[in-house]
Amino acid sequence: MIVSVPKESASGERRVALTPDVVKRLVGQGVEVRIEHDAGRTASHSDALYESAGATIVSDRDAVWREADVVLRVQRPMISGERDEVALLSEGAVVVGMLQPATNADLVNRLAKQRVTSFSLDQLPRITRAQTMDVLSSMSTIAGYRAVLLAAANNAKFFPMLITAAGTIAPAKVLILGAGVAGLQAIATARRLGAVVVAFDVRPAVKEQVESLGAKFISPDTGALEAEGAGGYAKELSEDQHKKELEFLHEHIKAVDVVISTALIPGKPAPKLITQDMVKDMRPGSVIIDLAAEMGGNCELTQPGETVDRFGVSIMGPLNIPATMPVHASQMYAKNMQAFLGLVIDKEGKLTLNFEDEIVQGTCVTHEGNIVDEATRSALGGKA
Ligand code: NAI
Repeated sequence: MIVSVPKESASGERRVALTPDVVKRLVGQGVEVRIEHDAGRTASHSDALYESAGATIVSDRDAVWREADVVLRVQRPMISGERDEVALLSEGAVVVGMLQPATNADLVNRLAKQRVTSFSLDQLPRITRAQTMDVLSSMSTIAGYRAVLLAAANNAKFFPMLITAAGTIAPAKVLILGAGVAGLQAIATARRLGAVVVAFDVRPAVKEQVESLGAKFISPDTGALEAEGAGGYAKELSEDQHKKELEFLHEHIKAVDVVISTALIPGKPAPKLITQDMVKDMRPGSVIIDLAAEMGGNCELTQPGETVDRFGVSIMGPLNIPATMPVHASQMYAKNMQAFLGLVIDKEGKLTLNFEDEIVQGTCVTHEGNIVDEATRSALGGKA
């Protein structure tokens, strides 16, 4: 069986789906691994490293797709006019990556039409057995960490308290909105830098986790903003609750130097938690890092992919943060991929798809010409 790793084609993408150590394990199982020339260069893995792990380097960028039984990707295959990677795949080939199928109708339809079996790791069920494969957690860990560094580098103040000959410097105050994987990593990182951290989430279950990292969990006394939905995720607040949340956050935001917002609701645009009026009331020189920018942003003024200055506050909406830390992002992604492949490739290196398995079923988007994932079908509605 041929497993191929093409060079990522999305602009600015520096990660790679397999690292040499994971290649070595696959080769040990009898799998033939082909790596496109320079696929790992931006993540510090040379062709020579892959070769010594047992892979073959392929210079023909179309052949790496055309001859593969399984293609491993970080991002979606490209299907734009200039390059159509799905058209290169043979019928029955398998693609694994972060496909975000619910928002990519054209891609999903093309994969089905080409009779490609596709797996989207961002659809992985958040169950204990799937933790080693959880690419969303891996990438959110990077985003949360990196967001704090961005904030510290762009904030007008020190993060830690300093006692100097020139006087005492008070620590920066950081507010984290949304204490999921990214938010918790942001809390831990901001605390390591010495900031005073407060956090809010609509899932009361995270209070203990927030406190265990040395931050304060803030919530209105009434407990009126609790919104835990299915699978441990948040659900959308009612209009009345949302209004209450904005009033509550408005009071707290005035007192902080940095806001890192990470609030997301599966399958929905990011909830708007920071209004223009709130930004107006923030201290000049403050920074908002909006990690929800990709889903429209938690701040009304966020411009995805841009940094804007409004009322003296810097509002940053970085996109694809994990690609800015490609070595560890690729290391974590490749380990997640290895764990997932352990489910679909047997000990003899053969593909075995057990659709009874909750993880195989949960991640499979297209198979034998059909869109098999119910959530994707309903999200795409008429476009499927
Ligand atoms: P996410 O990226 O979907 O959302 C980020 C955070 O935003 C969440 O904590 C959410 O509650 C919060 N949020 C949403 N709306 C909000 C609002 N209006 N105001 C304030 N906060 C708001 O979440 P993530 O990081 O993907 O984690 C989701 C769940 O999955 C968590 O319960 C987490 O513990 C769980 N999980 C389970 C794993 C496993 O068992 N394999 C692995 C990783 C996460």
